Amino acid sequence: MVERTVPIDPAWARVDAYIGEKLLGTDAVLSAALAANAAGGLPDIDVSPAQGRMLHLLARMAGARRILEIGTLGGYSTIELARALPENGRLVTLELEPRHAEVARANIARAGLTDRVEVRVGPASETLLAMIAGDEAPFDFVFIDADKQGNAGYVDAALALSRPGTTIIVDNVVREGGVLDADSADARIHGTRALFDHLAAHPRLTATAVQTVGVKKWDGFLLAVVR
Ligand code: SAH
Ligand code: DHB
Ligand code: MG
Repeated sequence: MVERTVPIDPAWARVDAYIGEKLLGTDAVLSAALAANAAGGLPDIDVSPAQGRMLHLLARMAGARRILEIGTLGGYSTIELARALPENGRLVTLELEPRHAEVARANIARAGLTDRVEVRVGPASETLLAMIAGDEAPFDFVFIDADKQGNAGYVDAALALSRPGTTIIVDNVVREGGVLDADSADARIHGTRALFDHLAAHPRLTATAVQTVGVKKWDGFLLAVVR
C-alpha cells in the first residue's frame, strides 16, 4: 500500500491553531484522551479538535438522542459526540481492536460519560448485523469512521438502523484528492469510491461532501440525511 507523504501546509496548521485558540479553548479531558492514545501506541488518526467540535455541533443541531459511531479508536470523536447528548441519551460505538476499545473506555470514563456510552468490540459488519437482527431502536445520528473498505456496507447498515431525518456522516472521503484515483493501489481509496458510487442518486439519501484542510491534511466529510 502506497502511503501519501504530502506534508501538512504550515498555513493550514496555523489556521487550525488560531481556530483552537479563539473558539475551542483548552479541554483537559480531550487532551488527556490524546495523551492516553499516544501512551497506548494508538495511531494518531482521530479527527482534529476543530473537526471534533464540528461533529459535536452537528449532533446538537440534529437534536440527536441516540448516536451510532463506527470506528472508536481511543474515543476522541466519541467524547465530542456523547457530550452532545441529553441526560438520557445513548451512544453506541463499534471497534474492532480490543486494545483500542480498552483505551477508549478509560478515556470515556475520565470524561464522565460511561453511563451514556457503550463500546462494542468486534468487526463492525458483524456487530451491525446483530444490531439489525436485534431490533435496535433507530439512531438519530451516525458517524462512520472505521475501515474505508467497509463504507458502502456501513451506510446500508446505518440506513437499516435509521429513521427519516437521520444524519449520516462519513470521515476521510477525500484523502488528499486520492478519491479521484480510479487506479489506486490503496484499498481505502476503492472503498471511498465505492461509497460515492453507492450514494450517486441513492433513493433514500440526500448527500454532499465537503473538503477540509488543517492539521489532518486535505481530506473531507460526506454528509447525508435519510429521506
Ligand atoms: N473515530 C475516531 C477515529 C477512528 S480510527 C476518532 O476520530 O477519534 C478508525 C478505527 O476503526 C480504528 O480504531 C480501527 O481499529 C477501527 N476499525 C478498523 N476496521 C474496523 C472494523 N472492521 N470494525 C470496527 N472497527 C474497525
Ligand atoms: C485513516 C483512518 C482515519 O479514520 C483517519 O481519520 C485517517 C487515516 C487510515 O486508515 O489511514
Ligand atoms: Mg477518520
